[in-house]
Amino acid sequence: MILLTSCGGDKPSTTAGSSKAPKKEATASSGSDAAKPVSNRKGKLIYKQYCQLCHGADGKLALSGAKDLSISTIDMAERINQITNGKGLMTPYKDILSEEQIEAVAEYVGELRK
Ligand code: HEC
Repeated sequence: MILLTSCGGDKPSTTAGSSKAPKKEATASSGSDAAKPVSNRKGKLIYKQYCQLCHGADGKLALSGAKDLSISTIDMAERINQITNGKGLMTPYKDILSEEQIEAVAEYVGELRK
């Protein structure tokens, strides 16, 4: 399972070049993934693990005052900032996720708007 290896986030040896470095495809998963940026798939996994319980799979759950992410208008920088530092009832993720993971999930949140 890919999930197991993506926990932790503080192993610079394997994540060194972040999204810039070409990632090795250990197993040929579903072929068409090659066309997508690595961060999208990663962001989705992180989202499912950490964000879905309040925001829902499609971003619209809005549990305990969470914003509907499908109609959110804040930009990438603000998303990264809010995920990093939290806001209101939302947990700050700076001690939970790496910068790279926060970036990946912030990008994924942008995709929920479509
Ligand atoms: C404990 C529930 C909870 C979890 C878990 C959670 N959020 Fe939130 N989120 C909130 C709440 C509550 C707000 C509204 C904060 C406010 O504006 O007062 C919010 C707001 C946001 C916003 C801002 C939307 C806007 O337009 O203002 C973004 C982006 C966001 N969350 C992303 C995430 C991501 C990404 C994760 C996972 C890493 C996550 N959230 C996990 C509760 C949560």
